[in-house]
Amino acid sequence: MTTSRASIHGYWSSRVMFVFAAAGSAIGLGNVWKFPYMAGESGGGAFVVLYLICIALLGIPVMMSEVLLGRRGRSSPINTMHVLAREENRSTSWSLLGAMGILAGFMILSYYSVIAGWTLAYVVETVSGTFSGVSSEEVGEVFNQLVSDPWRLLFWHTLFIVLTMVVVIRGVRKGLEMAVRLLMPILFTLILVMVAYALVQGDFYAGLKFLFTPDFSKITPDVVLKAMGHAFFTLSVGMGAIMMYGSYLPDDASIGSTSLQVALADTVVAILAGLAIFPIVFANNLEPGQGPGLIFNTLPLAFGHMPGGMFFGFLFFTLLVFAAWTSAISLIEPAVAWLIERFSISRITSSVICGLVTWAVGLGTVFSFNHWNRIKLLDGTPLAGKSFFDLLDYLAANIMLPLGGILICVFAGWVMSEASSRDELRLKHSCVYGLWRLLARYVAPAGVILIFLHVLGIF
Ligand code: PHE
Repeated sequence: MTTSRASIHGYWSSRVMFVFAAAGSAIGLGNVWKFPYMAGESGGGAFVVLYLICIALLGIPVMMSEVLLGRRGRSSPINTMHVLAREENRSTSWSLLGAMGILAGFMILSYYSVIAGWTLAYVVETVSGTFSGVSSEEVGEVFNQLVSDPWRLLFWHTLFIVLTMVVVIRGVRKGLEMAVRLLMPILFTLILVMVAYALVQGDFYAGLKFLFTPDFSKITPDVVLKAMGHAFFTLSVGMGAIMMYGSYLPDDASIGSTSLQVALADTVVAILAGLAIFPIVFANNLEPGQGPGLIFNTLPLAFGHMPGGMFFGFLFFTLLVFAAWTSAISLIEPAVAWLIERFSISRITSSVICGLVTWAVGLGTVFSFNHWNRIKLLDGTPLAGKSFFDLLDYLAANIMLPLGGILICVFAGWVMSEASSRDELRLKHSCVYGLWRLLARYVAPAGVILIFLHVLGIF
């Protein structure tokens, strides 16, 4: 029994395109920019181990549940939850889950776009030869100059939002599919080139040791929370992006194997990014825990000294822009689709509205690195000391995505009847279905709740 619902927004042309698009959403700044700097700040190996556990036990079941709900509901997360709750005779307040996801999407994209803007700026810096033969101090200076100039940040942020909206306006097939099909394989190859460089020129052993020797004394409740939040962030789950993409998935595709492929590709890219960056960090005595500037302060050093570095640098930052681009689209697509469904407006109008809102919120992040860098919000609370950017990232990635993730699992595992989920997942082996159900019903919700309680000091 498949449901007869249809998506008014279109479909992927094939199962493979869904994998590409979902991998395009998952693989982005999270893997190349955020993973290395978070691992660097949180003690390396210990963070990596926790992150991998969270991917396997929490991220993958949430991803499968999200695709499952999306394909069954075939509309934006708000309406999908509404329809599915009604189908199961439950309260339609479940649609609030979709609304929280849309809010998280706006929050994330607003700063994601500013960081993608740094990447755009670095494309220009590399081709203009800024990094040829530079020292690590000079590289640091280039970065500081960029982030302390709000006008430059604003320019690149605006450009990135415009680029994102252009693809969203073109819709599922003409916009998204075209972009990801070509770019993802090239990015992957280029990261391998960077790893090879790090192997030859960097302190590869120190990098490996840092990433894979867990020092468990480094694990604090906050590190656990960050590793969990990052697992959700990097897989793009917990806010409805994957649910939205699932709603464009053809009926005959297997949800289990596509989800696994996406999660695997995402994890491999993150680890490779770590292996490209940390050997350079250690070979040049740079600080692994320096925060969000990490890749911008390390990779240009490699490009500045390798043969053909200008070309590789240009290619690398360009592809990183593309990786960010395919993720940004998925952050905003649920909101765009919902506005279309709710107000019967055109895709163009809806995209423009969403773009403007995100752009405006992004100004807060632009100023977080200069005018407002001394303003730390929420003094006297556990969130003290965070800038506007830190706060948005913390709330969205570490709180809202995991919370959204458990609610998705609770819906798919408890609210939805076994017949419906079995029918939609159509897993070949009954034991695989059993494993998914165990993880979605018990392990993932309990894991997230225990981590939340741990951070609150209750457990
Ligand atoms: N997964 C993306 C990345 O790693 C970011 C993202 C988060 C995209 C949530 C969509 C939803 O860059």
